[in-house]
Amino acid sequence: MTGDSHETDGADPSTLGLELLTDLASPQPRYQEAIAQGGCLQPMDGLTLTFSRDLNDYVLRHHELFSSVGGLQLGNTRPLIPLNVDPPQHGKYRKILDPLFAPKRMDEQESDIVARVHHFIDEFVDRGECNFTEDFAELFPSAVFLGLMGLDWGELDTFLRLRDGILRPEKFDEMAAFDGAVRLRVQEATGQEIYEYFGRQLDVREANPTDDVLTHFVTAEIDGERLSREEILDICFLFLIAGLDTVSDSLTCFYAYLAQHPEHRRQIVDDPSVIPNAVEELLRWESPVPGGVPRLATCDTELPNGMKIGAGSAVMVSYGAANVDPAEFPDALVVRFDREVNRHIAFGGGVHRCLGSHLARRELRITLREWHRRIPDYRLKPGTEQLVYRPGLRSVENLTLVWP
Ligand code: HEM
Repeated sequence: MTGDSHETDGADPSTLGLELLTDLASPQPRYQEAIAQGGCLQPMDGLTLTFSRDLNDYVLRHHELFSSVGGLQLGNTRPLIPLNVDPPQHGKYRKILDPLFAPKRMDEQESDIVARVHHFIDEFVDRGECNFTEDFAELFPSAVFLGLMGLDWGELDTFLRLRDGILRPEKFDEMAAFDGAVRLRVQEATGQEIYEYFGRQLDVREANPTDDVLTHFVTAEIDGERLSREEILDICFLFLIAGLDTVSDSLTCFYAYLAQHPEHRRQIVDDPSVIPNAVEELLRWESPVPGGVPRLATCDTELPNGMKIGAGSAVMVSYGAANVDPAEFPDALVVRFDREVNRHIAFGGGVHRCLGSHLARRELRITLREWHRRIPDYRLKPGTEQLVYRPGLRSVENLTLVWP
């Protein structure tokens, strides 16, 4: 099977730094430069970035040295569970949550997810064109969540509004794009709505338990203890952030790649059994979550390569760089769907490794399978070939596809 090589563009080492976190159009060659220069950087006081796979693994596996507590300010008033919780408390939450997102539970969702893919494709297939980002990628993962949480289709707009209030506050107040205080104000107002919205849903589940995920949150017990109402709300808040955009962003990256690489697309159309491998390889190559949530050093410490890290300073791992580290992937810049060993860390590593990886994989595989059955040949709409990758999570704005 063929693979496309994406050779280094000879990035100037002196320009490496924070832009590795923000310029995400084609970061892979620059990630390799950062690895070649030692695998970590301290672009400013109090911040260390790790790039190589071994340094990333070290940070991710030593949660006692690099704490995830503190973390993100996204309109939440309490820590996000389990993302901003360290062991041993963290393990208690994962024990409750992991079984709800295990492969067997995802098998039960298969037909529901298939139906939701077709619901959206039906809307535009005859048009021969779609804004893939807005007409599919940003809607589909939210629709899947409705199914999981036992909510009606009618709740989709509420879900999207709550998600946007946190992740795209500029849609509600354009000043939020420039002014951090405005941004936080929109996020906090939305945050309150999220707590209230899920609070009402939990009241309903308590009165009438069903078989959905929200009911399981209410009834789950570990060592004879149930989750408190606040703990459940903090989990729901995180799900809205971690479970929706990540899949949307992955889809835009995948389809941007496939639209521009007809040979790869053909492999999927000719032999759909390649899809699980294609998903892993595209996750590796695209790394839609490019970096980890910042960890804070719990004491003065140092990395295995001798780099010193002061107590209280932040450390960010680059999943995107680790996924093109030549020490792990000798042909890292070649995208190949027949890769036999693919130990990528697009879902993170250590205790905080993604809780939703089985769900995400299922959504991505089903989309590739069902889409290519119905729309096997597509390309970027002429005139829109210049793709815009957003900073933060890696995603393509207004990816516009056309097909015969
Ligand atoms: C392709 C899509 C996805 C990608 C690439 C992705 C990636 C990640 C990564 C890299 C982390 C680790 C963050 C860190 O500690 O630095 C993470 C954590 C997490 N993800 Fe995902 N994720 C995806 C989809 C989902 C979905 C669908 C869910 C919904 C259930 C989800 C729920 C979570 C949660 C709850 C955590 C925190 C786990 C913990 O702290 O123990 N993710 N994800």
